[in-house]
Amino acid sequence: MPSHAPSYGSQEYWEHRFHNDSGTFDWLADGHVLDESIRDALKNITDPIIFHIGCGTSALSGQLRKYVRKPRQIHNLDFAHQAIDLGRQADLKDLKQTNPSWTEEDCMRWSAGDLLDLSLIEREFEQSHRDGAPYDLIIDKSTTDSISCAEDVIVSLPYSLCADSYQDSPRQASVHPVNVLAVHMAALTPPSSGRWICLSYSSDRFRFLIDDSKTGLDGLLVEDHIPAGFPDPKVLWRLEKKYPVQAFQEPHPDSRNGPMHRPEVRNWLYILRRTEESVSEPSQRIP
Ligand SMILES: C[S@@+](CC[C@H](N)C(=O)[O-])C[C@H]1O[C@@H](n2cnc3c(N)ncnc32)[C@H](O)[C@@H]1O
Repeated sequence: MPSHAPSYGSQEYWEHRFHNDSGTFDWLADGHVLDESIRDALKNITDPIIFHIGCGTSALSGQLRKYVRKPRQIHNLDFAHQAIDLGRQADLKDLKQTNPSWTEEDCMRWSAGDLLDLSLIEREFEQSHRDGAPYDLIIDKSTTDSISCAEDVIVSLPYSLCADSYQDSPRQASVHPVNVLAVHMAALTPPSSGRWICLSYSSDRFRFLIDDSKTGLDGLLVEDHIPAGFPDPKVLWRLEKKYPVQAFQEPHPDSRNGPMHRPEVRNWLYILRRTEESVSEPSQRIP
């Protein structure tokens, strides 16, 4: 046994991993397990813009092309620069096989960035070509799993994305990374229609969605952060669907001698939908 668990929340860990293994790798499951929910989420949206967060080297990036008219409508982001470089090269190679005159401009969008960094949200609004929130759909295959292992984020309150009034004086606070991610993703998706599809190994990935009676659980927002100006993720997202998906399992080495009875391993598919509550857009901030 290693003396300590890998730091799945750290950029260093992932850079190192993608440098050592530059092949395509899919966490938890093949991206096709998301097909039905993606189709369903996009059925009433013309020309959707998709944000594939923590894309790593997953084959899902390429599979998403079938949902859009132009590859540019997909933005693959990861904080590991190596994953982004590998993905960009593979995308261009694929495209050139179809038409040698195509260039990087015709590819999907690829960028390196930290989803927990507030300046990423400002950058996304600056680079967006449309009014309001830049993305219709967030695709997350085990990225929230990884982010849930990160250290708490130190934020300044009131948080600049907070649309509500707040009472307390400015201060710093330490917030669970999944709550910060949820607020950032809410800022990037339109109220009422935006969706976040997440495949996770955890049956309890979004603790902010559970009722208040369980306060004190790791991952819940500390109550006094809300009056101090941190947006409450529970009022920004609601759970539309959650269901188990059978996990991929390597055949057991002993199964050649007959069927092996092993406990079924499940992953969980979450479909979160934006509520009508808005988040303050970076451009609306009072200096
Ligand atoms: C478990 S892997 C999943 C990769 C890919 N989605 C898949 O299904 O194979 C988690 C990914 O999230 C990325 N990641 C973790 N924390 C991140 C953060 N704060 N910002 C951006 N990417 C992050 C990692 O670099 C890694 O590629």
